[in-house]
Amino acid sequence: MDIAVVDDTHELSASAADRIERAAAAADRFTLGLSGGSTPAGTYAMLGARTIDWSGVTMWLSDERWVPHDHPDSNGRMALEHLPAESHASLLRPRWSPTLEPDDSAAFYEAELRSIHEDAAPDMVLLGMGDDGHTASLFPGTDALHADPHRWFVANQVRQLDTWRLTSTATILRAARETVVLVAGAGKAGVLAEVLEGPDGVYPIQLLREASGSVTFLCDRAAASGLTA
Ligand code: 6PG
Repeated sequence: MDIAVVDDTHELSASAADRIERAAAAADRFTLGLSGGSTPAGTYAMLGARTIDWSGVTMWLSDERWVPHDHPDSNGRMALEHLPAESHASLLRPRWSPTLEPDDSAAFYEAELRSIHEDAAPDMVLLGMGDDGHTASLFPGTDALHADPHRWFVANQVRQLDTWRLTSTATILRAARETVVLVAGAGKAGVLAEVLEGPDGVYPIQLLREASGSVTFLCDRAAASGLTA
């Protein structure tokens, strides 16, 4: 796993947007997994000023909260609020309805993910990291950490948040050709140092140590301040 340190969140967003533009330009068809949370919003906003042929891009959500599509907590809603309008048709979102079970929605979405990837590996995935070392919605102590290795996307009960999430599994995250983890802020410095320099098997995001593709932790100086290397 590589580490790239930039000065601040603006440069972090710009660097991530540059990486997306470069990767998308290298392929006629390109799949991009989007992270939720708040950090990637700046990156999504900057994509409007990049040269990307959205007709060849399919975006998907590395995880989603189990809420209606227009709910303030929805990762899909957050992404569409910041992504350029011409990209919106490229985003594939999990189904939600009051009569649908999370497990069924995850299974539908998994089938769609397999279809857009033709069972091949995702081209690029953006991830974030929580201050508990979670990524996507793979939270410490949750069942999805031990999902069937054949599964790509599952429902996950996150008791510490009293909620359900839909999340990528370790299998699909480890398969991505290129993974960029966006980490910003001093609040993440301690856990980032433990994730990257501490013992394995402690934090969910350390599953990326077994990734088959490239993994870059793209951090601002505040988040990287606890690193010794
Ligand atoms: C989510 C995200 C989650 C996020 C981390 C970091 O649904 O919240 O997918 O994994 O990336 O919690 O979130 P911040 O970027 O807001 O710190």
